[in-house]
Amino acid sequence: MYDFLSDARFHGIEPFPSKLWLSSPTMHGEERRWIDTAIETNWVSTVGENIDEIERELARYLGVRHAVALSCGTASLHLATKLAGEALYGQARPNQGTLQGHRVFCSDMTFDASVNPVAYEDGEAVFIDTEYGTWNMDPAALEKAFEMYPDTRLVVIAHLYGTPGRVEELLRICRAHNALLVEDAAESLGATCLIGGKWVETGSLGNYNCISFNGNKIITGSSGGMFLTDSEQDANKVRKWSTQSRENAPWYQHEEIGYNYRMSNLIAGAIRGQLPHLDEHIAQKEAIYRRYKEGLADLPVTMNPWDPAVSHPNFWLSCLLIAPEAMAPHVRGEQDELWQHVPGKSSPGEILAALSAFGAEGRPIWKPMHMQPIYRNHAFITAEGNGRGRTNAYIAGSGVDVGADIFRRGLCLPSDNKMTPAQQDKVIEIIHRCFD
Ligand SMILES: Cc1ncc(COP(=O)(O)O)c(C=O)c1O
Repeated sequence: MYDFLSDARFHGIEPFPSKLWLSSPTMHGEERRWIDTAIETNWVSTVGENIDEIERELARYLGVRHAVALSCGTASLHLATKLAGEALYGQARPNQGTLQGHRVFCSDMTFDASVNPVAYEDGEAVFIDTEYGTWNMDPAALEKAFEMYPDTRLVVIAHLYGTPGRVEELLRICRAHNALLVEDAAESLGATCLIGGKWVETGSLGNYNCISFNGNKIITGSSGGMFLTDSEQDANKVRKWSTQSRENAPWYQHEEIGYNYRMSNLIAGAIRGQLPHLDEHIAQKEAIYRRYKEGLADLPVTMNPWDPAVSHPNFWLSCLLIAPEAMAPHVRGEQDELWQHVPGKSSPGEILAALSAFGAEGRPIWKPMHMQPIYRNHAFITAEGNGRGRTNAYIAGSGVDVGADIFRRGLCLPSDNKMTPAQQDKVIEIIHRCFD
């Protein structure tokens, strides 16, 4: 391991006395009130006032008719994907997924929980390349995918790091191809998009919408997720599936496969205490983003971008992208990596190792799904067409796609909303020294 603390480039910088996190929970004390009430009244299982209240509050905040509180965002994505599968292809047999034999177009730059539900339901995810302007699904690549696989009827999008993509365009393409949309807003609660001239919350944009209260999210219940919809029928189905699919009989009677996916009233209590602080968390995250942008402006790097004409992020994670000409050598294997310092240049590997040596947590950009070993045999579509096998031993030229390029040159910065400006200045200084 490289010894940054003895490297003259970092002279005078002291390690952080306690670890600076990428994005840790920020508790306010009000959580305890609602958790305590649940315990005192003995409503500690998967029913109770906290659940009812956060469902009401989030439906109101996001502008949807119905919200169903679930154990995690992944559970919400699973049931959203299953609902879409049933709507498109009918009810499946108990031992079959609803998407068996069907392709689903999915965001490529996301966390795998967005796309795994397609596999849970026996479908085949086809990954759609990313555009540089928002680091999200490229509408031109989606259009190309529909050209190549016109029978596809389902699309799954995520909003990476809390920045919405070009959702109005993606929605238009889905409508033109008669496709349904699952929206994964796990990272983007509170971010908005301009749709039909109106600012609309992420988590309300698709036919089936999902958010997460995982410990690292903009607000948290320690865990938890939610399904959001305007359809009462879909909300009721998710309630039923998430509580073991009981039929209306005095005994346990089942006509459909069930899941134990409902949220606990204790978790809902923590979320109830966090909700009044959502906007404050977003403001803190935005301030962090803007301080990085200013503090790093003299380096050959840019920040994770957004298009103010179409969206306003929640700034969940701040990220940077190193200019191609300022990239020092950095190679990654399946589980390890090797980087080399070159004066005036740096790499994600070097910056993350330096931050870690001083006690600050960054993270590599989420590795694109089409590069993941588990999905390497799945189709990957760019704006030009098939994104696989694009180099030629006999003809020079690069085969690097947008997702692979952002993964290679980018990294997530410490973005904890409890980070002080002085701590952030030190992070910024460490990054500067990496480029010395
Ligand atoms: C984009 C995305 N989708 C889904 C999830 C899954 O949410 P959960 O952890 O609540 O299951 C996460 C993060 O955890 C995520 O970042």
